[in-house]
Amino acid sequence: MPIETLVFYGALVLWAGLLVQGLRRSTWQGFMYFGIVLMLVLNIGYFVRGQGDAIAFFVSIYDLLDNAGVSSNGDLPVALSTCPDNACSIATNYDSHPAWGVAFHERFANGPTLRRTFLFGHIAFNTVAFVLAHVQLAKPGTGSNARQHRILGRVSFGAVTLGTLFAVLLAGEHGSVEEYGGIWSMLGFFSMAFVVYGCAIKTASTARAGDIAAHRIWMFRFLGSMWGAFWLFRVMLFVLGPIMRNIEAGAILVCIWFSAPLGVLIAEWFRKRRPAGAQQGTNQAPAMA
Ligand code: HEM
Repeated sequence: MPIETLVFYGALVLWAGLLVQGLRRSTWQGFMYFGIVLMLVLNIGYFVRGQGDAIAFFVSIYDLLDNAGVSSNGDLPVALSTCPDNACSIATNYDSHPAWGVAFHERFANGPTLRRTFLFGHIAFNTVAFVLAHVQLAKPGTGSNARQHRILGRVSFGAVTLGTLFAVLLAGEHGSVEEYGGIWSMLGFFSMAFVVYGCAIKTASTARAGDIAAHRIWMFRFLGSMWGAFWLFRVMLFVLGPIMRNIEAGAILVCIWFSAPLGVLIAEWFRKRRPAGAQQGTNQAPAMA
């Protein structure tokens, strides 16, 4: 395996340790900060190394488990595929790769400029929205924070609007991408956009109405949908890939349809278990804890 993929696995192990620590102590700051930094490393990679190389790195993360136990002599499972010159992954020790990864690389490494621009826009704006949402949660709009919170809230809403718009434009092309699940992928991404953007709209509208209690509730749900759309999606794909490799586009479709709603449910679970002071916003400690 390439060294950078191994380093990434090391980071995942560390992150899993922080998850266990969070479950034991009910403090989530370490887990969340680490997740944000890891997300930034992955996403900034698209701008630094270019889309083709960033996707080849991304696909390599999935190669190990997706290929585990697959015989090199027999027929490939339907959810695995090969790509020209084996260029769709930096893990060139594998000849086959997840079929979605082959299509993903093909769509952007050799794709039209407009599609590549949409992907850059999607990643840039949603990454900004993701980070800002955490800043907003950690610094609620009380006391001297009020003005900053209001301005960042508008920037964050603008960013998620553009990020989601670019996502919908990209997903609109998926009808012909069988490796993603064709029309079901398109509809699934539309539903993901609906969940994420629906939560964003409710977060903004409750703030405008001055209903602070409802604003906090929707802020949690919005964050849950973002974590679902980004991290839960990618972690679920990692786990489901090898399990569902005999079903064409099975693993990726499950992630597309269920990651964001599951993220909202998990956020609800956490929100309801927060101490009473934190729920009412009287606890000034960062709300990420
Ligand atoms: C509104 C919810 C979201 C939808 C509907 C969505 C949809 C999509 C679509 C359609 C693609 C491109 C696949 C292709 O056309 O081949 C994509 C890729 C990507 N999205 Fe999103 N996305 C969402 C949320 C997010 C968020 C919150 C982030 C960042 C924090 C993000 C970051 C990325 C990245 C980095 C990629 C490239 C693949 C990767 O490296 O993981 N997305 N997304």
